[in-house]
Amino acid sequence: MELTHRPRRLRRTAQIRRLVREHTLTTADLIYPVFVMEGEDQAQEVPSMPDCYRYTLDRLILELKEVDALGIGAIALFPLVPEHLKDNAGTESYNPEGLVQRSVRAIKEVLPDLLIFTDVALDPYSSEGHDGIVKDGEILNDETVEVLVKQAVSQAAAGADFVAPSDMMDGRVGAIRAGLDAAGYTHVGILAYSAKYASAYYGPFRDALDSAPKFGDKKTYQMDPANVREAVREVSFDIEEGADMVMVKPALAYMDVIAQLKQVSNVPVAAYNVSGEYAMVKAAARNGWIDEKKVVLETLLGFKRAGADVILTYHAKQVAQWLQEGLN
Ligand code: PBG
Repeated sequence: MELTHRPRRLRRTAQIRRLVREHTLTTADLIYPVFVMEGEDQAQEVPSMPDCYRYTLDRLILELKEVDALGIGAIALFPLVPEHLKDNAGTESYNPEGLVQRSVRAIKEVLPDLLIFTDVALDPYSSEGHDGIVKDGEILNDETVEVLVKQAVSQAAAGADFVAPSDMMDGRVGAIRAGLDAAGYTHVGILAYSAKYASAYYGPFRDALDSAPKFGDKKTYQMDPANVREAVREVSFDIEEGADMVMVKPALAYMDVIAQLKQVSNVPVAAYNVSGEYAMVKAAARNGWIDEKKVVLETLLGFKRAGADVILTYHAKQVAQWLQEGLN
């Protein structure tokens, strides 16, 4: 055949492919979500998330020393809150001696450079398992935002580098920014879960934190999976209100959303490779049905290609190890 174009020339050898590669995945892109619980010297594997543990603070610090040594620069911290500390208003969320606040202080003492992103939302603290205060079966917006501001300020006081509101209440980014600034935490950033969908992929996470809603679902605050223009709207509000970074969550079924938000956002875009996505890969890999390493690296590279600047993933530690071993 007489062909003018033979695109395969650029795929002929590994060296050529490396030269013309458009996107890369590095350890610097990763945020590692971790679960902390009360107690001493314990680690409990999350049943629906193989190889992922809830740690007591002492054990978490040992784990984070390894994570830091692997070059992972950031963690997202989630607490398992004892049932007796939960109430409808999530009061424990802003206790200066709460599990998250104590954990942030302790981690910063040992690993001062490791960036800590704290989750701002009421669900781990809520007796109703919702991200906001419940009244007559409804999730109150403005009353919830007042609590979220207190929660964010207490996390900043403990030493969090970024607060990450994952609750999807209206106006919370602006209120949190104002609250942080008024309290003197102008240097603390906001990673806004801007396009957070009402997703079935969060199931294993809710097992990990025992935080599933006690009634109903989260569809009056988390987004409808059918919508993408709404995501653009949410992101533009959050940026106007002062978000330093925005997020799409989940990631895998929402790559088009990542790509679109990358076009309209002038701040970094994060993608959250959520618990259900992790569980599916682990389950298939354990059955010998897929090659875990290849599938994980391909998936995360896909998030980069779609436009993600930052990836939150439970695979982070493993990925950092794989990247250290070198790819081909
Ligand atoms: C809570 C929160 C959730 C996740 C992160 N923060 C669950 C939810 O909204 O129900 C899910 C993370 C995951 O599935 O990995 N505000």
